[in-house]
Amino acid sequence: MKCQSSAETRIGIIGAGRVGTALSLALTGAGMEITGVMSRSRASADRLIELAGLDSSARCDSPSEVFERCEILFISVGDDAIEQVARQIVDGFSSGSEAPVSSGAAPAIDPSAAGQTPRVAAHLSGALGSSVLSPLRRLGASVASLHPVKSFSEDPRASADLTGTVATIEGDAPAVETLERLAGTLGMKAVRLKSDQKPLYHAAACIASNYMVTLFALSLAVMESCGMEEAIARAALSQLVRGTAQNLTDRPPGRALTGPIARGDVRTIRGHLEALKSHENRSAESVYRMLGLETVDLAEQSGRVPPETAGELRAVLSGGRFAALRVQE
Ligand SMILES: NC(=O)c1ccc[n+]([C@@H]2O[C@H](COP(=O)([O-])OP(=O)(O)OC[C@H]3O[C@@H](n4cnc5c(N)ncnc54)[C@H](OP(=O)(O)O)[C@@H]3O)[C@@H](O)[C@H]2O)c1
Repeated sequence: MKCQSSAETRIGIIGAGRVGTALSLALTGAGMEITGVMSRSRASADRLIELAGLDSSARCDSPSEVFERCEILFISVGDDAIEQVARQIVDGFSSGSEAPVSSGAAPAIDPSAAGQTPRVAAHLSGALGSSVLSPLRRLGASVASLHPVKSFSEDPRASADLTGTVATIEGDAPAVETLERLAGTLGMKAVRLKSDQKPLYHAAACIASNYMVTLFALSLAVMESCGMEEAIARAALSQLVRGTAQNLTDRPPGRALTGPIARGDVRTIRGHLEALKSHENRSAESVYRMLGLETVDLAEQSGRVPPETAGELRAVLSGGRFAALRVQE
């Protein structure tokens, strides 16, 4: 079974949120045809249809209607709803749908009920494997997951250019091959990943992206507590983060590192800890100490500080409250 990913390929989208809408814009921008759209609320589906310039006839009333209308289906609902949507699609084609597939023994199903079109169904979660879509195999679909390694904006138009975005793909071979071609059409870099590695891989992506936002918010609050206006502090920190991201793009982390740990300025680190001790947000000090210790490892491993300076920095950073917490662990 092979699905082409040419301009003639009919594509379906279930879930008109951040990713579903931005992906639809990318697909239509590449000249591909979206023939079915469905979301939990009609308002979200209508917004996607309008932004992507689709005909209103693309709106579907059920997940199985979207499935029926396409060769490649993207299920872009939140992770917790993916399996439920897959089951709803199967239920839509079940003979005697009063006995839902999810209620135990699967009812008899004739794959031809969904038509003879060879189909690929994919979700976009970074954490889940394609096996959550396995109910769709009963309809003859080949299943996979495609995770765009990107933080999608609230405004789908700001995230619709997927050029250069890495897309990690796993699943059934025919679906993987089809999605690799489709990713290539959108200018993405397709990379295969083992299904069982997904939770760890996704944890890494969360550390880099989500926790960077948390660190930014923490830094912002500390800066504001020094009397800086929120807008000025945000502009200053954004500029700083942009420069850091650029350094990280150009060279490995050990060489991108700047600041007192990379310079071995032990006295400066002591001063920071003294100042943070009296800060109203006590977790600022814990986070500083914990990430400081990781940073010392990085600086030492990459030859930025000699072992004796690294030892001194570790002694300062692991002292006090955080050291006590670590001992309890
Ligand atoms: N956000 C990111 O940066 C990012 C990056 C890579 C991958 N992903 C993955 O992309 C997927 C979608 O994430 P997202 O950020 O786009 O989420 P989102 O903005 O919350 O959008 C999810 C959409 O799914 C719809 N939905 C929820 N349950 C549904 C159901 N049972 N049937 C039909 N539609 C349903 C919601 O509908 P209504 O609006 O109609 O209520 C919502 O529009 C997730 O698997 C996520 O892990 C996200």
